[in-house]
Amino acid sequence: MASILQCINCGTQYPINEVIYECSKCGGLLDVIHDYASLETPITRQLFDDRLGSLDKPHNSGVWRFKEMIYPDVPDDLVVSRPEGNTNLYHVPNLAKWAGVNELYLKHEGENPTGSFKDRGMTAGVTQANVLGMKRVACASTGNTSSSLASYAATAGIEGVIFLQNKQIALGKLAQGIAYGATCLQINADFDRNLELVREVSERLGIYVLNSVNPFRLEGQKSIVFEAIQQLRWQVPDWIVVPGGNLGNSSAFGKALFELHQLGLIDRIPRLAIIQAHGANPLYRYFSGGYNEFEPVKADTIATAIKIGNPVNREKAVRTMEWTGGVVEEVHDQQIMDAKSLVDSTGIGCEPASACSLAGTKKLVEKGIIRPGDTVVGVLTGHVLKDPDATIGYHSNMLEDITPQYPNKLLQAGDDLEQIIEILSNVKHEESAI
Ligand code: F0G
Repeated sequence: MASILQCINCGTQYPINEVIYECSKCGGLLDVIHDYASLETPITRQLFDDRLGSLDKPHNSGVWRFKEMIYPDVPDDLVVSRPEGNTNLYHVPNLAKWAGVNELYLKHEGENPTGSFKDRGMTAGVTQANVLGMKRVACASTGNTSSSLASYAATAGIEGVIFLQNKQIALGKLAQGIAYGATCLQINADFDRNLELVREVSERLGIYVLNSVNPFRLEGQKSIVFEAIQQLRWQVPDWIVVPGGNLGNSSAFGKALFELHQLGLIDRIPRLAIIQAHGANPLYRYFSGGYNEFEPVKADTIATAIKIGNPVNREKAVRTMEWTGGVVEEVHDQQIMDAKSLVDSTGIGCEPASACSLAGTKKLVEKGIIRPGDTVVGVLTGHVLKDPDATIGYHSNMLEDITPQYPNKLLQAGDDLEQIIEILSNVKHEESAI
């Protein structure tokens, strides 16, 4: 076996097929560690470039194209893939100008099969459930992990169980979990409590947990970074900017960059900026306070995907900050929704949490941390259709405490030819902000 589980704190190792989410000695988070040196196929840029455009499973997936760095030993016929990944990296000069940087690219993870980056983690996690012969998989979720779990469980022919918060789950996400046939429980608790509950219930009932505390999820999510850098022809950007909630992505990105560098596939490590919503900013506070004392917060933000007060992957995210010379920033809901409106207006579109990447880039440029000459890759984590209420609420000025800076007003007309012609003749377009 080329892979093992290893505690990030005390280094205790466990066999790869043990059902375990944290170290039984010290309670630390676990990494999946691959023994790259023992692989028959040497890992090179060419190996991964030769698979671009593949029509065959599993290399047709933007996750499994990098199989040697995701889960080298897993037999191809156990891989559960839709396939995912192969998302676009958009070059967005107008948004770059608005944010104040030379070059900005947006990696659109909303273009995954269920509309979020979670599919990259879920293909790896459900594949491991398959390897272990688990009959049920479960997660707590703000809505995207659950959509993804429901879809991949259905693909694998196993039961998906999802714990949803009772308030503020975006409509598109609620619909997906139900539609894909998962057992859906809406629970009178927030995400952080639901995560505790799902872990206890799963322990009692022998269900496999697929939240990002499961290290296989993070192995899959490393491929966001692999793919973005491959799309840049292996030229490393100065910054990667990503929204932070439960901090799974941030953790996966750090490990991805560390490993790419170790293997010589990149010559330097870009800096990572994690952007949290002001109302759900425990890592920002911890970082700003010099990592003195971590305190969970009671989370509240319009970006419901990242409405998380006690991120489970905190220690891995701190490690990422060390590996990448990273920073943590916060943005307000107003900034999130204005930035989302601009991303949407380019025709690309994203859900609110994703817009942290653009809003955070602008803020870090204003603070002089990202320099105007830098090249930035921002990650859009979810699709514009996930949260239609937030989008329509913004453009119709119905959101509490938010004054839309870039609204696109919905015009109303009767069944009246002359009225319609008059409206269209007089429609005034504000000068575009981008
Ligand atoms: N963006 C979106 C659209 C998300 O759905 C999430 C997390 C994040 C960002 C934050 O990513 O947790 O890796 O820091 N959503 C989870 C869910 C919590 O249940 O769907 P993270």
